[in-house]
Amino acid sequence: MHFELTEEHQMIRQAARDFAQNELKPGVIERDEHQKFPAEQIKKLGELGFLGMMVSPQYGGSGMDAISYSIVMEELSKVDASASVVVSVNNSLVCYGLEKYGNEEQKQKFLIPLAQGEKIGAFCLSEPEAGSDATSQRTTAVDMGDYYLLNGTKNWITNGSTASTYIVMAQTDASKKHKGINALIVEKGMEGFTVGAKENKLGIRGSDTHSLMFTDVKVPKENRIGEDGFGFKFAMATLEGGRIGIASQALGIAAGAFELSVQYAKERKAFGKTIADLQAIQFKLADMATEIEAARLLCYRAAWLKDNGLPYAQAASMAKLFASETAMRTTVEAVQIHGGYGYVKEYHVERLMRDAKITQIYEGTSEIQRIVISREVLK
Ligand code: CAA
Repeated sequence: MHFELTEEHQMIRQAARDFAQNELKPGVIERDEHQKFPAEQIKKLGELGFLGMMVSPQYGGSGMDAISYSIVMEELSKVDASASVVVSVNNSLVCYGLEKYGNEEQKQKFLIPLAQGEKIGAFCLSEPEAGSDATSQRTTAVDMGDYYLLNGTKNWITNGSTASTYIVMAQTDASKKHKGINALIVEKGMEGFTVGAKENKLGIRGSDTHSLMFTDVKVPKENRIGEDGFGFKFAMATLEGGRIGIASQALGIAAGAFELSVQYAKERKAFGKTIADLQAIQFKLADMATEIEAARLLCYRAAWLKDNGLPYAQAASMAKLFASETAMRTTVEAVQIHGGYGYVKEYHVERLMRDAKITQIYEGTSEIQRIVISREVLK
């Protein structure tokens, strides 16, 4: 066992860090304030190969490992979690699922432009009455022979209006419960598919979150991923990898707030010395650094298991649970260290605190991660 990153990993970290500082940082406060999607930045991330990081070059991807993905997610999220969630959803929930479970035609038609960043994808599982309880899908996909007739509403969909390719989970045979669910590829512009109003969110305000409405949308049979009834397993298996991405996002939010806190503590003077000389601040920084390092190791372990073809559901949930709780605790402390400055936008930490909260909610709440972990523990 060794704990060192390869030279390639270090280069990827540097590239992502440079991108975050040079391309994401300018304008991040304004995008948050005005709920502006980082369109130009996402385009550039696509050109750099960060939207199809783990996809094989054969399908337009960068062919990198999941550790690299975790590193990139951390670095981007230190600065702009609204941009990094696009990277996470496109890589983990859309490209990965299509590459692993899609057929050759679907890969040629849908995966290549997504992996190359020419198009953005969305993953549509949550519904007004099916969030954590994901088996209770109300959206229906009635089998009409050579197409499915899709009806229903999806909620809180990341990339809701900017995506072109949507993977939609829908119930075809309710009597079969989760075994009657299908995953269908829906394209923007299909008749009967409309995008609802943008959500006005607490955090990740630059990300584009919408409800989606489907009214008698005819989805060709060839757009179904996997066998009839495979949709729920598709969603669960895809979310496993997604949880590594969100865990790494949470890690990045925590690490970003920590780096700002260290810098501030060394500059800010109080009681005739810098606040970094005060033990009250030193202890906070020590706790933050320790938790962040533990979160990072959990992220890398989950990514390493995935890269080595080993089961990683529990490891991904552990990483997400711990990293998201670390993000919340760390960002609250970062605001405290900054005092009054921490409460205003210019110092970035209040945004990181608001952004941290979503990592305990999406791709499975902390409670869902505990369900996944405890089931493995009790097996
Ligand atoms: N891989 C493959 N199959 C899996 C699986 C996995 N990781 N996890 C479960 N399954 C299979 C099971 O084997 C089972 O199949 P069989 O019946 O053939 O044995 C089937 O799926 C049902 O599994 P469970 O009985 O465990 O289902 P459950 O109803 O108890 O639910 C749950 C389990 C963990 C609570 C699940 O519903 C869950 O993860 N819920 C949270 C959903 C979620 O994360 N939503 C996030 C929305 S997406 C999002 O946030 C994206 C974004 O915009 C950023």
